Amino acid sequence: MNVLITGISGFVGSYLAEYLIEKFPDAAIYGTIRWRSRTENLTQVNGKVKLIECDLKDFSSVKSALEQSNPEYIFHLAAQSYVVTSFHAPQDTLITNVTSELNIFEACRSLKISPVIQIAGSSEEYGLVYENELPIKEENPLRPLSPYAVSKVGQDMLGYQYYQSYKLPIVRTRAFNHSGPRRGHVFVESNFSKQVVEMEKGIIPPVLKVGNLSAVRDYTDVRDIVKAYWLAVEKGEPGEVYNICTGKGYPISAIVEMLKSLSNVKITVEPDPSRMRPSDVPVLIGDSSKFKKKTGWNPEIPFEKTLSDILHYWRERVPEKASTAT
Ligand code: GDD
Repeated sequence: MNVLITGISGFVGSYLAEYLIEKFPDAAIYGTIRWRSRTENLTQVNGKVKLIECDLKDFSSVKSALEQSNPEYIFHLAAQSYVVTSFHAPQDTLITNVTSELNIFEACRSLKISPVIQIAGSSEEYGLVYENELPIKEENPLRPLSPYAVSKVGQDMLGYQYYQSYKLPIVRTRAFNHSGPRRGHVFVESNFSKQVVEMEKGIIPPVLKVGNLSAVRDYTDVRDIVKAYWLAVEKGEPGEVYNICTGKGYPISAIVEMLKSLSNVKITVEPDPSRMRPSDVPVLIGDSSKFKKKTGWNPEIPFEKTLSDILHYWRERVPEKASTAT
């Protein structure tokens, strides 16, 4: 079995590679990386995955990656995934996210191959959701509130269209927020955890800088998410779209409280206006019954464990404060 993971060196990609290697020891796992990609997330799979240098925005580069890997399954995870960056660089976000996917589809057509392709959509596509629409089902209107969200709607619709037009076996997933160790430090639960660890080590004062604490998000552990992605290509219906989530919403303020209970530092909270967005999605709580019914997936890791694992991750990585000579 040949598998190709775009964005293998990223947060989710690295966990997916580990999961597939353990589940299918004989599979050949390929992953695309850019020349400047950092590969520290891949230490556990070093030598067990085949890395292909590829710029997904370049059609010939994508075609060559598909020729080299000849995949039966493609997990398309590579993306500009930070909402805030998409406000600063909307054009790059749209081009990166939509063109890369288009290149994969067109390369499959050009090579006359038909791998099962998972498209990693996002709950951000739903955007503005009204109270009476919760928990969100797949049929909910999409009201995106950021260029990132629009790019994910574009990816989602492109997947739908290429299935309808060319019968490429594309399964679209809409994952709600997911986290765990290795989560990029810009995302809220990882950012707050890192700040707390810097306080514990005396690097910064015990003042937590925060943005909008009233937003509500539905968190799944990344290790449950990668199992879902495999089930999506194994048991999902091509042409269909599936929510992946736990159905439990946490206000961001609850993350602050949980971190306070996991640390001995006396933390005070300080709003930082630079952390506010031009528009923020107020609430995302999903209904994943369609996916669960189709695949039997069930998330197992509670958010409290995810958060404590992230703290542990940062405690191991944030260097101790250099002692000043007296
Ligand atoms: N990043 C960040 N930093 N967010 C903050 C902060 C802060 O200091 N303070 C409050 N927030 C709020 C944001 O305004 C948002 O409402 C919420 O915390 C979560 O922000 P992020 O962690 O940046 O994630 P996101 O929900 O915008 O997007 C993530 O989840 C999507 C799925 O719903 C990303 O992983 C996306 O790539 C993913 O598609």
